[in-house]
Amino acid sequence: MFNLRPVTVFTSLRPFPNLFVFYFLIINTHKSTITMPTSLDLVGKESWRQRSELEKMADLPPELEKELDRLDNEFWVSRDKLKEIVKRFQEELEDGLRKHGQNISMNLSWVLSMPTGDEKGTFLALDLGGTNLRVCIVELHGKEGKEGKRHTLTQEQYKLDPKIKESTTEDLWNHVADTLQTFLSSKGLDKQYTPDSPMPLAFTFSYPALQDRIDHGKLVTWTKGFDISGVEGHDVAAQLRAKIEDRGLPIDLVCLANDTVGAMIASAYNDPATIIGAIFGTGCNAAYMEELSKSSIPKARLSDDDWKLAEKEALKMAINCEYGAFDNERRVLPVTKYDEQIDRESPRPGEQGFEKLSAGLYLGEIFRLILVDLVDRNLVFKDQDVSQLQKPYTLDTGFLSEIEDDETPRFEKTRALFKEKLGLEPRDEEIELSRRLAELIAVRGARLCACGIAAICLNSSLESGHVAADGSVANKHPKFKKRWAKALGEVLDWEDREKASHAQDNEGPIKLTSAEDGSGVGVAVIAAMTVERRERGNFIGLRR
Ligand code: BGC
Repeated sequence: MFNLRPVTVFTSLRPFPNLFVFYFLIINTHKSTITMPTSLDLVGKESWRQRSELEKMADLPPELEKELDRLDNEFWVSRDKLKEIVKRFQEELEDGLRKHGQNISMNLSWVLSMPTGDEKGTFLALDLGGTNLRVCIVELHGKEGKEGKRHTLTQEQYKLDPKIKESTTEDLWNHVADTLQTFLSSKGLDKQYTPDSPMPLAFTFSYPALQDRIDHGKLVTWTKGFDISGVEGHDVAAQLRAKIEDRGLPIDLVCLANDTVGAMIASAYNDPATIIGAIFGTGCNAAYMEELSKSSIPKARLSDDDWKLAEKEALKMAINCEYGAFDNERRVLPVTKYDEQIDRESPRPGEQGFEKLSAGLYLGEIFRLILVDLVDRNLVFKDQDVSQLQKPYTLDTGFLSEIEDDETPRFEKTRALFKEKLGLEPRDEEIELSRRLAELIAVRGARLCACGIAAICLNSSLESGHVAADGSVANKHPKFKKRWAKALGEVLDWEDREKASHAQDNEGPIKLTSAEDGSGVGVAVIAAMTVERRERGNFIGLRR
C-alpha cells in the first residue's frame, strides 16, 4: 500500500544502494500495478515510523521514541479529523457571507469578474509585504504581447526595517510615500506624469481590510506579527493617499487588493482554469469568485440599480476569505500546547487561530518550542549551550524545509544548520528526532492548508480547476504540494484508483499551481479592469 512504506526495509538496505534501488522498484511497481488502494485513507493505525517518509538514520533511546509517539499523536490529522475540520470550515465560510463580524470575514473586494487576458495599460504597483516593500511598473500587453508574454515588469525591492512592524501610522506611511517618491524619480516617472494626469497606482495590502469600495480598505486587525499603532479601524488607502498628496506625487490610488485576490487575478490573466488564489506563506488565506446575488452574499449592500445590473450581467465578486481566522475558538483544530503558547505570546492572542497552526511564520517557531520543551526536560542537547535556541522566532520555515530536504550522507547539512543557527552540535539521535519533528509539523500544516480550499470547493461546487498558490511554504517547501494534494483527495473523496493516484502527484481534478505575480501583475490587471469598468458605466464598488 503506497502510504505504508516499509521503512525498516529502507533502513536495513541503506549500506547496499543497488539492493535499495531494486527494492524500491519492486515496491513502486507493486504499488502501481498490484495493490493500488481504492481509498486514500490509509492512515488509520500506523505508528509514526510507518507514516513517515523518512529513512531511519539512528535508533532513538526509548524516552525519545516515547516523545515522538506522543507528538505524532498530537500532530497527526487523520482523514476523519480533516473532514470534521472541513465541515466546520464550510459553515464558517457561509457565516462570513451572511453577516459581518464573523471569524472568517469573507471580505468583499469589488473585483467583479475574472480577467479576459486582454487587459492593457501601464500601472504602478505597490506591495506592502511582511519583509519587503516592492514597487513595480507593470505594462500589460494583453493577448497581443510579444511571444505570448502578456506583461513587462520593472521593479525595485526595498527591505522593510523590522522596527516598522511595531511603529506608528506616521512612520509607516511616511516610509511608504518616501519609497514611492524615490522610485518615481529614479525611473523618471515624476517627469512623465503630473498631479493632473497621474499614474494609476494599484496597492496590494495583505492584511484583513474591509472594503466599502475598491479604492478603500479599513484594516480590521494586524496579522503576521505586525503591530503598528493608529492603523486598525482606519482606511489605509486614505492614510496613504494623504501622504502622497502631502508630497505632491503624480499618483492616483485606483485600487487596493488583498494578495490572494491579486494571485487569483494574475493567474487567471494567463490561465483561464484558475478557480482560486491562495497564499501559503508567512500567512495563509485564499480568494475565489462568488456569485453577486442577494442569496449568495446576503451581507452585501448594493443599490437597487446595482443589484439589477449584477443580475443582468451575471456578475461575480472576488471574495477575500481571510480564513486565517478560522476556528478562533479552537473548537475543531488540533491544538497542541505549543500552539497555545504561540498564541498566548503573539501580539493578538485569540486571533488567526488557523493561521497560527499552518502558516510559515509559525512552523519554525513550533519546532523551536518543542525542542525547548525537550531541553527543559533534559531529553536533548544535554550539556550544550541552548541560549540561541531560547530566542523566539529564530527559526523560519526555511530551516524545516532544509532539514526535510537534506540528502547528504550523514545529514551533514542539517548538522551545519544547527551549528550555524543555534550553535548546537546534535548527536545522531537528535538529528533523527529533528528530522521527524520537521516532517510532522510540515505535514500537519499542509493537511490543514488543504481544508480551507476543500471547504471553498465544496461550498461553491468547484470540481476541477487550478488553485494558484503563492508564498514561501507553497513554493519553497519541497514536499508541500504533494502533501496538500493528497489531503485534498482524502477530503474530497477522490477514492477511485485514477483520481487517488493522481492526487498523490498533485495531478487530481483540482490541482495546486504556482501563482503568477499577484502583487505586481495581479493588482495591475485589477486596476485595468477597474478603469475599463468605469468607462463602461459599471460603478458597483467604485467611487462615483
Ligand atoms: C492576512 C491575509 C493575507 C494572508 C497571506 C494573513 O495574515 O490576514 O490578508 O492574505 O496573511 O499573506
